[in-house]
Amino acid sequence: MSTFRSIEWKNGNLVVLDQRVLPQEKRYIELSSVEQVAKAIKDMVVRGAPAIGVAAAYGIVLATKQIAENEQIKKILKEADQLLRSSRPTAVNLFWALDRMKRVWENFSGSVDELRDLLEREAAEIEMEDINTNKQIAKNGADLVPDGARILHHCNTGSLATVDYGTALGVIRFAHESGKNIHVFLDETRPRLQGARLSAWELDQLGIPHTVIVDGASGLVMRKFGINLVLVGADRIAANGDTANKIGTYNLAIVARYHKVPFYVVAPTSTIDLNTANGDSITIEERNRSEVSEISGVKIVPEKSEVFNPAFDVTPAELITAIITEKGIVRPPYGENLRKLFG
Ligand code: MRU
Repeated sequence: MSTFRSIEWKNGNLVVLDQRVLPQEKRYIELSSVEQVAKAIKDMVVRGAPAIGVAAAYGIVLATKQIAENEQIKKILKEADQLLRSSRPTAVNLFWALDRMKRVWENFSGSVDELRDLLEREAAEIEMEDINTNKQIAKNGADLVPDGARILHHCNTGSLATVDYGTALGVIRFAHESGKNIHVFLDETRPRLQGARLSAWELDQLGIPHTVIVDGASGLVMRKFGINLVLVGADRIAANGDTANKIGTYNLAIVARYHKVPFYVVAPTSTIDLNTANGDSITIEERNRSEVSEISGVKIVPEKSEVFNPAFDVTPAELITAIITEKGIVRPPYGENLRKLFG
């Protein structure tokens, strides 16, 4: 277990660690309504594909507070479901978790109390599954990390981005806990600095040796220090293996290919979206101009300059060496082998 929880169901409310203010401040926020959960996801108080999914599941539980009589169940939960679905468009875990919750409420007939219990149980199950899944992913990825490895990582994929343990950072954590002598280079991950602020904070607490670099330094670092592997997370993996992840992942994959460094995507199977044929069909979230044009409230871009701020990009499957999941390591051809994971 980590020394913190990114997300926790406590006394009927959802308590989240505010990821906007880390590492300066360890501030917990209590969310008591579905509207507050949707806003927390949108504002990135809670972030990271698996954590977003779990938060949304509990958002549905909170929405049941608004139900005064049985006839309102479908209407209120449908509205809550739609509100949560509109919070962030790229991470498929959000939709996956909401689909699971919907299967519970859609055809339910019984009392509101019974429904609330069932929904709470389903959300708790999604939460617990996330921890176990991550630990299995970490074990599955172990052989890919040699002793003495120098690893490059992008964004934050640790306990903060999940319920606990993490995906790509989980593989890193497991290698360290197994006694391997590793060193991690962390892309700072502009514009919201999840690498510099969040991944460095997590690795620091875990005692894992690391160095923060600016995103543009990855080529130099590969050439100069001989990176052994790149590990990144994913927000949505299309049926052909094209992978949406934090902006800058695609650039990193190109640099890794040039330097012949294996490039691994680490994700639970809940991030695989067989209904999306390829990366071109993935909706890429665009966020506020101010994330790029300001640093800590100080304007760094002239007012009249245009800004483009996509939160994610798509790495083509051909640049991905393998995808590490809880069900095993998937290698190309992804179209065929991803499908096999689902039997
Ligand atoms: O915009 P964010 O911070 O939610 O983006 C997070 C990422 O891109 C992660 O790499 C991804 O969600 C996987 S987290 C296990």
